[in-house]
Formats: sequence, structure tokens, C-alpha cells
Amino acid sequence: SSNQMWGGRFASGPDAIMEEINASIDFDKKLYAQDIRGSIAHATMLAHQDIISAEDKDKIVHGLDTILSEIESGAFEFSRRLEDIHMNVEARLAALIGPAAGRLHTARSRNDQVALDFRLWVKEELQKTEKALTALIAAFLDRAEEHADTVMPGFTHLQTAQPVTFGHHCMAYVEMFGRDRSRVRHAIEHMDESPIGAAALAGTGFPIDRHMTAKALGFREPTRNSIDTVSDRDFALEFLSIAAIAAMHLSRLAEEIVIWSTPQFGFIRLSDAFSTGSSIMPQKKNPDAAELVRAKTGRINGSLIALLTVMKGLPLAYSKDMQEDKEQVFDAAESLELAIAAMTGMVRDMTVRADRMKAAAGAGYATATDLADWLVREVGLPFRDAHHVTGRAVALAEQKGCDLAELSLAELQTINPAITDKVFDVLTVEASVASRTSFGGTAPAEVRKQIAWWRARN
Ligand code: ARG
Repeated sequence: SSNQMWGGRFASGPDAIMEEINASIDFDKKLYAQDIRGSIAHATMLAHQDIISAEDKDKIVHGLDTILSEIESGAFEFSRRLEDIHMNVEARLAALIGPAAGRLHTARSRNDQVALDFRLWVKEELQKTEKALTALIAAFLDRAEEHADTVMPGFTHLQTAQPVTFGHHCMAYVEMFGRDRSRVRHAIEHMDESPIGAAALAGTGFPIDRHMTAKALGFREPTRNSIDTVSDRDFALEFLSIAAIAAMHLSRLAEEIVIWSTPQFGFIRLSDAFSTGSSIMPQKKNPDAAELVRAKTGRINGSLIALLTVMKGLPLAYSKDMQEDKEQVFDAAESLELAIAAMTGMVRDMTVRADRMKAAAGAGYATATDLADWLVREVGLPFRDAHHVTGRAVALAEQKGCDLAELSLAELQTINPAITDKVFDVLTVEASVASRTSFGGTAPAEVRKQIAWWRARN
């Protein structure tokens, strides 16, 4: 039989394959709450504008409330024959309240309806993301405070570079996730415009009030161009871009956790709650959660590229291609939520092995820059010469198989006679770290200032 929504000009129903490729209900049922909320706002506005009667509006609203509880209790039967969430809800409304149901779609199209539902969903998801990032930042702030004095090696090229503190390293992630969160906030602002009332693409001749529906649905204002409104999926792409950048940050952290938790590094120990064992090797404790967080990046990047590719060739206004927007966003949202939650747990629970970090910080001549800086400051050498002198000191230490601080004064003086025993004050990792007092530097006092700055904003 032909479709009850648009079957007027159709003699027969769809081929089975047509139904299969066309139906979106399997995934867009996720939008049921937004769809019903949007319809209630629309019907209320139609009655307020005398486009439908108050009596029909009451029936519609009551019917939609019933449908909401049917869906939430699991009693609702979704039908693929009815394509999507919009037609599933409307068909059920007709069954519940009769002909008044047919008035709900006045001055509306599924094109503005889906744009509304999806935008509401993405906006709510971003609000959840904002909260999740705040919790992750809070976990890092606690660890940073605890370890503002814990010296560890800082790396470039994954080679020991200069001593830093674990607190400072944690605060680097606070900066990253803080930027992600501010992108989330901007995106919410950006998409805070109501699509409903754009209708199919051209607007409508009915005297609707788009400001009223915008307000009722919690949007700042209605969108300004009806053609753009039904063509636009920037809000979904912004969500995916933000998710991709955040996932990249999470993945770098995951990578560090994987490295830090190896027996060779041994900087951290993951809690039992966030690691797994091996079915064959009894000694193993594996960082599976971190690895999976790292892997989720692939899915999220894929979703961003998939939707960009879907959208890039579409003429204005709506095309059915756009139905492919939802699965990408739903999958990315689920992955991101899970990844942030898993990371928050790992960061909160992990044991930081300060002794191991400190021992590693001293290895690899990490205070060589401090020696060079000292030669500039105290001996008056140009930095390039100081660099050269220090290089010779490192070579000597390497040859003797000792640390820079273990070279004797006499040995250092063979390289440059102006060196005094005051140099030993700067060769320890603690002294090195404490000396980096520039704004944003690794000195514990400086890191504590940055922690306080973030505490006031988290
Ligand atoms: N299920 C559709 C989607 O997700 C709803 C909009 C359909 N509009 C249309 N003119 N066929 O995009």
C-alpha cells in the first residue's frame, strides 16, 4: 500500500530495498524526545497564532505526551515502513487522537523538523561534553596540586630534555582540555538558533511566530535564512571537529600513559580498576583502557571526514544524503563520552611513582642547560660558547660513566678554569626546576599560580 504521509500521488508502496536504504528509524529514534518537544512547541505556537484551534492543540499535546511515555517505557512499536522518527511519532499520534493529528504538520516540513531535532540533540550533547571536560580538568588539577614538586624528566623527541614537574606536565593537559571546553562553549553559542519554521526551504505563508518557538525551545533566536536552515549541518560538523581535536588530545595522553606504565619507565601504576591482565602471562598489567581511548580517535576522525564528504557536493537546499549525518555524530559522541570518562578515571586513580620519575629526571644529563646558563650568568660566556663548554662536560661525564653533578670541580675546571664550586647548586634536578620561574615555567611556585588560575575558572 502507498504511504499514509505522502501516498497521495503514489499507486504502490516501496520496494523492500527502497525501504531498507531509505529508513532511518533504526538510528534516528534517538531523537524522539527532541522531536516531541519540537512538535509541542510548534503546535502551541500554531494555536497561539490561530492557525489551529486550541482544542486540536490540546489533543495534539496530550497525544504527544502519551507517545513520550510509551517510548520511554518501551511500549512504543517503531516501524521501518514509517521511515523515520518524525513519521513514526506522527502516525502514532493519528492512531491516538484521530484527524487533529493531521494539523500538526501545518507550516512545517520534515526538513526543518529534522534540522531542529538534530540541533537540539547536538546542543545537549555539547552540554554533556562541557561537564565531562570539567570533571577531567578537575582530576588533573588535583593531581597537579599533589605533584607540584614532583620532578620528572621533560622530553622533546621523547629524549630527556630538561627536568620539569609532574604537576606542570598535568597542567599542560589542563590547558588542552580547557581549550576543548572553550571550543564547546563557542559552538553552543554558534548553534543557538532555532530552525523550526523554515519549512521545506522557502518559509511559509501561514502567520507563524518563529521567535515564539525559538524561545520555547531554549534558543537565543530563530535562524535568518530558510534555505540555509534546511541545508546546514555546520552544527554537526562543529561538534565532530571539536570531538576530533579533543580525541587527539586524549590520544596523546593515552600514549603517554601507555609509555609511563611500562616497567621500563615505571612512572605510574594504573589502578586495577583501569587495567587488565593477560590470559597467558601472569605478570602482566595492561593499559587497555588507554589503548582504546587512543583508538577511539580513529573512529571520531572518520566520522568528521565522512560527514564533510557527504556535505561537500550537495546543492542547496535539503538532500536525502543529509540523513547520513546522524550515525556519524551519534557514534562520535558515544566514543568521546566514553574516552573522557575513562581518562578521568585513569588520571584520578593512577599511582604516581615520584621516586622513579626523579631518578629518570637526573639521568641523561638533563641539567646540561642549567650548566650552560650558569656559565653565561656567572662566568659571562656568550651562550654559544657556554653550550660548547657544557657539551665537553657532558662528553667527559659520559666517558667516566657518571652524572654531571658527579664530576669533580677539578675535572670541570679542566674544561673551563673559571668554574667554581657554586656550579653544583644548579646541577641538581630540584635546583633546575626551581630556577624556571618565568611565567608559565616549571618552577613549583609558578605551577601553583597556574593551578590557582584554573581553580578559579573550573
Ligand atoms: N529522515 C530524514 C533525515 O534524517 C528526515 C528529513 C526527510 N525530509 C525529506 N524531505 N525526505 O534527513
